[in-house]
Amino acid sequence: PGLLNEGCREELGSLHGIPLYKSFIEGWPQVEAFQARHDDLLIATYPKSGTTWLSEILDMIYHDGDVEKCRRDAIFNRVPFLEMKSRGHIPLSSPSAGVELLEKTPSPRLVKTHLPVQLLPASFQEKGCKVIYMARNPKDVVISYYYFYQMAKMHPDPGMLAEFLEAFMNGKVAYGSWYEHVRGWWEKRQEKQLLYLFYEDMKKDPRREVQKILQFLGKEVVEETVARILHHTSFQEMKKNPAANYETMPSSLMDHSLSPFMRKGISGDWKNHFTVAQNERFDRHYQQHMAGSDLCFQMEV
Ligand code: A3P
Repeated sequence: PGLLNEGCREELGSLHGIPLYKSFIEGWPQVEAFQARHDDLLIATYPKSGTTWLSEILDMIYHDGDVEKCRRDAIFNRVPFLEMKSRGHIPLSSPSAGVELLEKTPSPRLVKTHLPVQLLPASFQEKGCKVIYMARNPKDVVISYYYFYQMAKMHPDPGMLAEFLEAFMNGKVAYGSWYEHVRGWWEKRQEKQLLYLFYEDMKKDPRREVQKILQFLGKEVVEETVARILHHTSFQEMKKNPAANYETMPSSLMDHSLSPFMRKGISGDWKNHFTVAQNERFDRHYQQHMAGSDLCFQMEV
């Protein structure tokens, strides 16, 4: 064993019953005590649901469509990841904790989190912060997550897809049950200043969704700027943008040769991976776990 355990796979720990990276659990006291500012905007998602896409859109809106300003730093520095905490030795190119980075970030801040709603630090509610939640259908999420587990070395080995599907359905993956996550945030949408968006809607009609975001933020933007935002945040543009595609992460943490972070960016890729039997089993499980909810997902667009 080397001195640095950076990049070595490790089993997940548990934070209030939610499976999570052990380093994040170590940093939890600072996250729980995090002081939000009234003009913070929280971007909340279950992993692999379009977080980076939504983050780039918001940074563009915050900079009035100025592409150069949005290249000032990597997305994970422009939109700090609240509960992130590195472990052991930290490469100079990456910050050691989301909370530390946020403290140094001037307002108005964009804040990223994958926390389930019940674990959100109280301060966001106390300060009345706006939240944008983005959800994606679980079949595409699980496939995207499977590839992400392979390339991002902080995860345990995902094994075969069949195994990973079971783990996902049982909520035994980082951030726990997708079902509880999307439902938990959905149920809170009346209480909070919350805009609930869907990846599939964003794929179908990004202009309409960007307009919804602008309205939610109370911002007016000229048509030319909207067009620039849409172009700059397309999958093809983001895939080749080093400030958005995570390629500046140390390769000990993310190995893009195993699977690029900007992988496919489509809805319905699960059809290329699920067997008929897996799909039937997944559908039954989905019906059971979404029963009684008016939350609906489009499995393809
Ligand atoms: P795939 O693995 O299905 O390609 P997150 O940012 O929450 O980790 O989500 C990553 C997923 O969003 C990946 O999905 C990634 O390709 C996709 N994605 C990133 N930018 C996108 C964009 N501009 N348009 C569509 N999908 C995008």
